[in-house]
Amino acid sequence: MVRPRLDLWLGLAVCVLGCDQPAPKAAPGSSAPASAPAPEPPLARPPDEDGYELWLRYRKLEDDAQRQAASAQLTTVVLSGASPTLDAVRAELRRALGGLLGTPPRIGSELPAEGDALVLGRVGSPELARLGLAGVGVGLGDGYLARRLERDGRKLLVLMSETEIGLLYASFALFRRLEQGPGLEGYSAESKPRIELRLLNHWDNLDGSVERGYAGRSIWKWDEDVALHAKRYRDYARACASIGINGTVLTNVNANATALSARYLEKAAAIAQVLRPYGVRVYLTARFSAPVELAGLPSADPKAPAVVTFWREKVAEIYRYIPDFGGFVVKANSEGQPGPQDYGRNHADGANMLARALAPHGGTVMWRAFVYSPTGGIDRIRQAYDEFHPLDGRFDENVFVQVKNGPLDFQPREPIHPLLGGMPKTPLTLELQITKEYLGQDTHLVYLGPLFEEVLDQDTFASGPGSTVARVVEGAFLPPGARGLKRTAIAGVANVGDDRDWTGSPFNQANWYAFGRLAWDPGLSAADVAAEWIAATWSRDPDFVRSVQKLMLQSREAVVDYMTPLGLAHQMAEGHHYGPGPWVDGLARPDWNSVYYHRADRSGLGFDRTKSGSGAVLQYHPPLRELYADPARVPLELLLFFHHVGWDQELASGRTLWDELALRYERGVRTVSEMRSAWDRLELQVDRARFGRVAEFLAIQEAEAGWWRDALLGYFATFSGKPFTGSRGLEELRSLRCPKDRDKPRCPEVYGDRPH
Ligand code: GCU
Repeated sequence: MVRPRLDLWLGLAVCVLGCDQPAPKAAPGSSAPASAPAPEPPLARPPDEDGYELWLRYRKLEDDAQRQAASAQLTTVVLSGASPTLDAVRAELRRALGGLLGTPPRIGSELPAEGDALVLGRVGSPELARLGLAGVGVGLGDGYLARRLERDGRKLLVLMSETEIGLLYASFALFRRLEQGPGLEGYSAESKPRIELRLLNHWDNLDGSVERGYAGRSIWKWDEDVALHAKRYRDYARACASIGINGTVLTNVNANATALSARYLEKAAAIAQVLRPYGVRVYLTARFSAPVELAGLPSADPKAPAVVTFWREKVAEIYRYIPDFGGFVVKANSEGQPGPQDYGRNHADGANMLARALAPHGGTVMWRAFVYSPTGGIDRIRQAYDEFHPLDGRFDENVFVQVKNGPLDFQPREPIHPLLGGMPKTPLTLELQITKEYLGQDTHLVYLGPLFEEVLDQDTFASGPGSTVARVVEGAFLPPGARGLKRTAIAGVANVGDDRDWTGSPFNQANWYAFGRLAWDPGLSAADVAAEWIAATWSRDPDFVRSVQKLMLQSREAVVDYMTPLGLAHQMAEGHHYGPGPWVDGLARPDWNSVYYHRADRSGLGFDRTKSGSGAVLQYHPPLRELYADPARVPLELLLFFHHVGWDQELASGRTLWDELALRYERGVRTVSEMRSAWDRLELQVDRARFGRVAEFLAIQEAEAGWWRDALLGYFATFSGKPFTGSRGLEELRSLRCPKDRDKPRCPEVYGDRPH
């Protein structure tokens, strides 16, 4: 499928060079409006919302004709059978159709003698056979078909799937259709998930804290009765199911062995029971040293018989608690986590030992490739490939190697990870980060759909042209495997916490949504997904949808521009990664410092990763390798990731490096100002509560974008000798000590002193 792509680059470039300055803004935190005062609203604004309902609000369809037509079709629903999932389908149909159409449907198990109806049925069921649909839909799995039929003068809309959960997915697809506005006329659909395991990874600790979480505490309340939180867990599962997510890893990759003790397994089992009807399976992280910590064994050596027995018994115990347990995610020999290398074994030895314990129960191991040597040495971004590539083909069949989208660490932009396409015999889980650790955390409005899309669409050339990351992750090039094995997976590091709005800001919800939708179908366009989300979350007014969509689609390129343009990476302040820190150079390991990544000196800027530098380009397949290695041809967006470039060198744009850098930082700040103005113009169409929160955050973002520009250009000017005067001096910026609270990071020194 060819995606409609917005040519943001062109649009932005034209604007930077020629457009008017946006109207001056009120200082963030002041109560004066940012642009010209808005007239008094002629109509009442929508009632305040707290964001809890996410995109599952189901407000009544405004268009009377369309609502009536849909009501005629959907007031009678036929769905037979009894199970927790079918009950969930019924509850969802009542809630959604009741909301959208104004009256909940009548749901029965038999088709009435007359009248139009919505019929839901399993492939091969007698109900479908009676409608002449015997044999239709075989092979759908959890996918679904929507068909319109005329029978005896009545119109039927039929949703079918091989599984019950597929009927739930079909229902959510129907609701999306209604939210989008084209009505049911001509509605037919066929959709199958292109990736089998679509997981959220929660980096949640047992004490309730969340690593890189900016939306409150963990939603998993280990010390409290699950019944107290069942509604929230169920609503979480509904949200996941509505976008096709079918698994959740409850615990942090920096794992605590205690999570595998009986007390926690009992809780995990109770959570699993709430999530199960919605098709969301529970996984846990496994700390490799658990045999030592939980059972007092002298080692966790994967070849030691006692260790093998420990895991076999532990896994059997887990399956007694959670019969459909998904498996383990493991971070081993990485950033201080224990692993097989502690015993002279390799990653395959460790992963296979766990995989053998899980295999009899149908569980999988997601073994993370986010590793780099504890002692530093060669270019950090090379190390995962150097370590894992030689192990290709040596993992058991129920092992996935879980690979981040880029070789560094979830930056605003990175090239793809060379292991994507670099382990042809191994099923890979693509790991994306939904929580915006390096992209402005909770406050900055950054829609990640375009980032995910860029990664999925990138050609690895692993099996010739067209070997995109999406195709690699979909298993298109894997050798034929054993039947029934789960072979394809994708994971998103969750941005969900116990904040009332789940994600710390209304727009962060869009990233959870986009992850799920693209995990189901990596061919969807981020632009279309944004439009779906906007209509369901805010307003269906087409002008409103277009305006917000534009703003969202600008936002990712904006953050790249004001943080790390032209292939710069890891310029964030140390530890919390909030705000700029290009000067960071005192940390114990060279590759934890910003200076390691930008390599600024008198001659220029950037990291030489060509053959004459670290050689990392050689890990890519030709012709990507040659493209990245050639400073004249490498996309400008990745230039400094692969090359050290002179300050006065002329780039493909016709500008010198310094001028291009300055232009992009400025453009980033300006785009945020435009986003802010665009949002202000929409004020009257949005409820006050959510409007105000977004407006406040955009004010912070605008001020912080300027902070980034001033810090980076001010700092680089000390090397380039080029003139640069920011709104604040470098010394002042270097002396800032914020945020105080890492979970709700704020820097009032930058955006004003009103508490947010
Ligand atoms: C990043 C992040 C850590 C996390 C790690 C990982 O480095 O900052 O908090 O533990 O990634 O993915 O394991």
